[in-house]
Amino acid sequence: MYRFFLASLFLARTVLVIPDVYARDGDVLVLGGTGELGSEIVKVLVEAGESTTVFSRPTSSRERLSALDVEYVTGDILIETDVERLFSLSSYRAVIDALAMDDEANTGFYEKSQKYISKWAKIYGVQQIILHGAIGAGDSSSLFKPGTLPSNRAASMKDKAAAEEILKASGVPFTIMRHLTLLPLTTKESGNARLSLQHSTVGAVSRDGLARLSLECLGNKVCLNKTYHAVDDDVQLTGRYARLWERYARILRPEVLESRGMD
Ligand SMILES: NC(=O)c1ccc[n+]([C@@H]2O[C@H](COP(=O)([O-])OP(=O)(O)OC[C@H]3O[C@@H](n4cnc5c(N)ncnc54)[C@H](OP(=O)(O)O)[C@@H]3O)[C@@H](O)[C@H]2O)c1
Repeated sequence: MYRFFLASLFLARTVLVIPDVYARDGDVLVLGGTGELGSEIVKVLVEAGESTTVFSRPTSSRERLSALDVEYVTGDILIETDVERLFSLSSYRAVIDALAMDDEANTGFYEKSQKYISKWAKIYGVQQIILHGAIGAGDSSSLFKPGTLPSNRAASMKDKAAAEEILKASGVPFTIMRHLTLLPLTTKESGNARLSLQHSTVGAVSRDGLARLSLECLGNKVCLNKTYHAVDDDVQLTGRYARLWERYARILRPEVLESRGMD
């Protein structure tokens, strides 16, 4: 019933064809589930009654998930034998990747981690990988004025683009959700966070909004093999985010702002 309700919500927002939800066998695995975005995703999964496994490091704080009934598997996503073991321990029907590099010394974090994730997900028959990526990766790099991204950010975009390509070539059905600005956990979605296939769509989005969108795409064939941009046009931009569009005007091409009615 709840899944039907979610599917209806999804339809209302995206005006797409009727979602064809695949069989519900196997857990949902969340990579980066102890993080800010990942923990919001874990919360909505548990609330929806999904059997959820979180991959965490031995050092990860589980505080954000303390009240939740989840399984943990411990390891390091950059160690292939850990990833192989992770997939061998249980049958996951879907993987949600909310990992983020925490050390700039880890050059190629997204490419390397996705290489292992996609490889072992394919071998173990995972039916969907939802990858949280970034606007600025792949074809969306052209939205930025040349030379406006700091070199570390540009390198991260290249790394994320490489991860997207590995996933797309892996043969595992995928859903890529790119975002430009992730708002702090204290900012809640307006209710209108949405996914767009228009790659000129840019803006901010909250982590709880992304969590809801992840749940709506989970097991939803409409979302398979798609690369979306996630935005919430009605979310409250406060504090250092209040002047976000002025910052965007410095880094994004004028036609991108125009297409968003922000010129
Ligand atoms: N922040 C933004 O404005 C922004 C904008 C666009 C896109 N994004 C993307 O959104 C996603 C989530 O961002 P976030 O800020 O919510 O992330 P976050 O809070 O930093 O969480 C990152 C997660 O990745 C885990 N992790 C990192 N290295 C790992 C490793 N070697 N092995 C296993 N787990 C590892 C962390 O584990 P620990 O708990 O052990 O640290 C944590 O659970 C990322 O892909 C990020 O690039 C962010």
